[in-house]
Amino acid sequence: MEKLFNSFMVKGHEIRNRVVMPPMEFLVRETRNGRVNDGHLKHYGMRAKGGVGLIIVEATSIHPNSLSVESQLGAWSDDHIPGLKSLASECHTYGAKIFLQLQHLGVKMHASSEQDVYGPSEYHQQGLHARAMTLDELHELQDSYVQAALRANQAGFDGIEFHGAHGYLLNQFSSPELNKREDIYGGSLENRLRFVREIIQRVKLEVDDNFILSYRMGCNQPTLEEGIDIAKKLEEMGIDILHVSSCGFSSQRPELPETFIYNWVVYGGSQIKQQVNIPVIVVYDIRTPERADDILNQGLADFTAIGRELIVDPDWVNKAMNHDPIYYCKRCQPCVVFVREKCVML
Ligand SMILES: Cc1cc2nc3c(=O)[nH]c(=O)nc-3n(C[C@H](O)[C@H](O)[C@H](O)COP(=O)(O)O)c2cc1C
Repeated sequence: MEKLFNSFMVKGHEIRNRVVMPPMEFLVRETRNGRVNDGHLKHYGMRAKGGVGLIIVEATSIHPNSLSVESQLGAWSDDHIPGLKSLASECHTYGAKIFLQLQHLGVKMHASSEQDVYGPSEYHQQGLHARAMTLDELHELQDSYVQAALRANQAGFDGIEFHGAHGYLLNQFSSPELNKREDIYGGSLENRLRFVREIIQRVKLEVDDNFILSYRMGCNQPTLEEGIDIAKKLEEMGIDILHVSSCGFSSQRPELPETFIYNWVVYGGSQIKQQVNIPVIVVYDIRTPERADDILNQGLADFTAIGRELIVDPDWVNKAMNHDPIYYCKRCQPCVVFVREKCVML
């Protein structure tokens, strides 16, 4: 392996190899009040011990009203800090770097009889019903993102990842389909990105200088061209790493050149990589060390995220280094069906 096991420096942090564990929710079931428990320490500790360079902890809610399921991890209160601290320390003990993925569901908040669902603007499609958030609510949510990032910093995480893909709140703000606001937070791309730009500015003022900001975006927001524009703007805002996945609402998949042997999501990431000067993580169906190394050697990305394979085999990295047989995910989907009855990515 030429590149897979080379380290990479980001903001003074040496990430020991190019393998990222992408955020994957709900694999630990007994979470109460958003708090880290022994299950999380074991789950993430095993992957850190197994050699992963960078662990991005699953989507963690920034607000108690926005829970994917009751057992979602949280960073909306200072009460979460001790648990997060143990988690960061566990992964550091085994040599991995660790980010916390910050999420708000926006229009995807689960509507129960009492739940007041809101997003950037009114939305009534795909079985979702939401009202537009007021300006006060918008500012409150910005504050929740900032406070959650500060808590991650205080807990000893190396960075955070804004979840701006898969149709959640930050993706909704950037989307022309979802964001019909008529104030300064809607309209032009510049305005649609104002919500996150203001959060990033505030976070950067308050966190440690070497705290890393990653942003997970869809390559197709809604087209690859617009995805590239967004990536460039995120770089200008001071994002340190882009983690390129897919967009959650109606969007166009980029056309693949016939010679491109990887998934369209990897292709989107590779096109964004060519247009920015910050490191790019690509993801989706990469599966084997050989494919990951080839992606890196071709210069398609700086990091490769290995998701479902790391659920199945926590020792994927160490086994790849030692040329030991790896257990591969059979795509039978219990990990996803079990959780949400359909794949979050499709
Ligand atoms: C069980 C499960 C949970 C997931 N949870 C999240 C999540 O919390 N945040 C996120 O951005 N993506 C989530 N994803 C998507 C993964 O991060 C990743 O993009 C996807 O699994 C594709 O990579 P792979 O083909 O290597 O598995 C999840 C995927 C799975 C299978």
